Amino acid sequence: MRGSVQKAVAFVTKISLHSNDSLAPYEPWLFGGDALCVSSLTPESFFFSLAPCLFQRGRLDPLRQGEQRERFDLVVDLSGENTVSRSVKQKILMCPPTYYGVDYVINPWMEGQHGKTDIALAQKQWDALREKLAVHAQIEIVPAQPGLPDMVFTANAGLVWDGVVVVSRFRNKERQGEEPFFYDWFAANGLRCAEWPQTVPFEGAGDALWDRALPLLWIGSGFRSDVNAPPRLEKIFGRRVVQMKLVDPRFYHLDTCMCPLAGGYLMYFPAAFAPESLALIEELVPQDKRIVVAEEDAAQFACNTVELGDQVFMNGASDALQAKLRAAGFNPNPTPLSEFLKAGGTAKCLTLKLVEPLV
Ligand code: ARG
Repeated sequence: MRGSVQKAVAFVTKISLHSNDSLAPYEPWLFGGDALCVSSLTPESFFFSLAPCLFQRGRLDPLRQGEQRERFDLVVDLSGENTVSRSVKQKILMCPPTYYGVDYVINPWMEGQHGKTDIALAQKQWDALREKLAVHAQIEIVPAQPGLPDMVFTANAGLVWDGVVVVSRFRNKERQGEEPFFYDWFAANGLRCAEWPQTVPFEGAGDALWDRALPLLWIGSGFRSDVNAPPRLEKIFGRRVVQMKLVDPRFYHLDTCMCPLAGGYLMYFPAAFAPESLALIEELVPQDKRIVVAEEDAAQFACNTVELGDQVFMNGASDALQAKLRAAGFNPNPTPLSEFLKAGGTAKCLTLKLVEPLV
């Protein structure tokens, strides 16, 4: 197939027109784990759900049965130049660690770390992550600000979906100064900032994770985001929001202990959740799609993974976890981020996806 662009017919069930031109919608994109690389589409048919149309290892899978279908002609690039791992044009927001450091304590990882971060090493580690991600995604940069050492953790800038963003309202006053800078960046880059009351803490994609197969948003509560956040998010995004109660202060944001992956897989550390939240996972995610993470891996933030189709990037993962991920079709890319773990964040915390697939 190398070198050829083939015409294929895809069936899609849902169309959602995207009105926000500033996200350069006509580039090729990867749609989550369903991994269809589209080389050219008409503007009208750009943003749609490719959920029923699985392009895996060089073929279009048969459609699921019983779906209501509409027919669209797509040009599918099977050339190899634009395969899943290379032509992904996801956009990711990052903030350089120019003013990073542990200057206060707002989570257990920060205790005893005041002044102990090696800034040169932090910069090196951040550059390495950025470089690895840049192979698969376009990296956007929000400038760092003096006096805001945690701004590097852009997962907490807000939660994005379909051109709309809910800008975070931080629970801790130490991080509240970041809000206007993130707000201004989103507004200047064509995202519509949804209304959100100042009084309801919500820490963005650090606590809110779009599932990659189910049409729902997982949201953490217990430490940072408020219990009143879910109904508001449900209203704004028109999606079911599933609240997950976090019980271990080391795993204070949902993205520190859970990661939805392509194809409906869910990687998570069970001991971080209240029993009723574990029951929800069992109800919603089939057993063969649950990737249970052991304490040793959770402690090195293995769940804090950036997932880009079949590529997954994390601070570290044991051989056993890497084997589990491979068996499920993922390629683990361990990327050391020790300096950031001192502030309680690693790979996923350092990134924010600006385009979320519409499942
Ligand atoms: N020191 C930061 C805080 O406690 C770390 C944030 C990590 N971000 C994340 N998405 N988990 O807020």
